[in-house]
Amino acid sequence: MTRRALLERGIAALTGLMALIVGLPIIGYLLGPLIKPTPLQYVDVGAVDRFPVGQTTLVKFHDPSPLPWAGQLADTALWVRRREASGPNAFQVFSVHCTHLGCPVNWRPGAGIFECPCHGGVFYEDGTVAGGPPRRPLFQLRWRVAGTHLEIESAPLPTVQSKA
Ligand code: FES
Repeated sequence: MTRRALLERGIAALTGLMALIVGLPIIGYLLGPLIKPTPLQYVDVGAVDRFPVGQTTLVKFHDPSPLPWAGQLADTALWVRRREASGPNAFQVFSVHCTHLGCPVNWRPGAGIFECPCHGGVFYEDGTVAGGPPRRPLFQLRWRVAGTHLEIESAPLPTVQSKA
């Protein structure tokens, strides 16, 4: 092997090593959240009294579960339906996103339905599909009452279809 070839191989090896040293932390930063399970946590969305029985209320929600670079996309909303004053079936918490292509659904209290403005998807008040292109009911999130406050479990969607 000539001196020139040896030098070229040495430079190539050094360049590869430097690229590895610089690239590994970047790859780890980008792929780490995909590999690491997302920690679930409950988020306080307000006092239980804020949600009158028989009504469906929009709640702004900062979801701590998305990837760190989600930015404003982590600021989302939920529909909280209060069915009863208390008990295990007191609430239903729906993702605001339509199960067709993810547009935010609107609650129409007069008709008692959720309506999706994008392609005309319609859901009944319990989140089941009433019509249009969606095939699945609205995604539901787990909830619990802690003291006098309602807490929602943040989780990557899709989550549960009904509270266990
Ligand atoms: S996104 Fe809702 S019907 Fe298509």
